[in-house]
Amino acid sequence: MTTLGFIGAGNMAGAIVRGAVAAGADPKDLVLTDVNPDAAARLATELGVRAVASNLDVVELCDAVVLAVKPQVLSAVLAEVRESLAERRPLLVSIAAGQTLEKLGRMLPPGLAVIRVMPNVNAMVSAGMAAVCGNAHATADQVGLVVDLFRGVGQVIELPEKDFSTFTAVASSGPAFVFTFIEALARAALKHGVPKPLAVRIATQTVLGSAQLLLARAEDGVTPADLVDMVSSPGGTTVAGLVAAEEAGFSPAVVRAVEATIARDKELGALA
Ligand SMILES: NC(=O)c1ccc[n+]([C@@H]2O[C@H](COP(=O)([O-])OP(=O)(O)OC[C@H]3O[C@@H](n4cnc5c(N)ncnc54)[C@H](OP(=O)(O)O)[C@@H]3O)[C@@H](O)[C@H]2O)c1
Repeated sequence: MTTLGFIGAGNMAGAIVRGAVAAGADPKDLVLTDVNPDAAARLATELGVRAVASNLDVVELCDAVVLAVKPQVLSAVLAEVRESLAERRPLLVSIAAGQTLEKLGRMLPPGLAVIRVMPNVNAMVSAGMAAVCGNAHATADQVGLVVDLFRGVGQVIELPEKDFSTFTAVASSGPAFVFTFIEALARAALKHGVPKPLAVRIATQTVLGSAQLLLARAEDGVTPADLVDMVSSPGGTTVAGLVAAEEAGFSPAVVRAVEATIARDKELGALA
């Protein structure tokens, strides 16, 4: 059995551990730590997993270690546990945004298996979308183990690392774009007299239902454009709104948002 440890017990680690337990992992095989011992202890108590005192303890105890800290503290964390990593040689899993396998490799003892994962915030409600990519030392079984882990909190794809920046923009920053869209839709309803909480509920359920409809019909080859056509009757209300949205630059605004995110991801990767 693989003992899986988490360095950093924040939002993402909490979601992943919760998902692993719900998917049937034995809580005894899950270990976590955090710079704030209270945060680790709270999560451990809630989920019946083990909290340990230090990052070193996690490396000493675990066959696989998930690095679930913010990218800016990653190099300090890895420097702190480097000797133990060289000796114990666990599988390392990084979820840090913008940290390439090549860069992680430079911070680590040579020859370690490393798997990079880009999750998204929707993992918190088990509706995540994650991408996974292993380095040259990671075996197919190790990649499979990580894919299974993230399946506990949503959908997972294996993706070449060259596409990670784009995936980050669409899937990891994407929720922020969608929340902004929901907020704008609700504000428009508010402008027309619908109370804000009700407007938010209407807009949110509309986005959720639209995504569910698209997912259900996509299996039969139906595209988003097909569904746009389906709800746009000739000379009707929806097409009038769509034309106005395009005149206001809706599609180019979305593309620009994604491009700016990709550019910033690459910039941060180069800086770190
Ligand atoms: N949240 C997302 O939607 C999302 C999406 C994709 C990728 N990610 C990646 O997931 C990683 C974790 O993100 P998150 O949102 O879970 O962050 P988070 O909630 O801030 O969790 C990180 C945890 O690590 C702790 N920590 C800081 N320094 C530490 C150290 N030296 N040793 C041990 N623990 C330490 C933090 O404590 P303090 O709070 O005291 O610093 C915090 O409790 C990041 O690398 C991020 O890029 C997140």
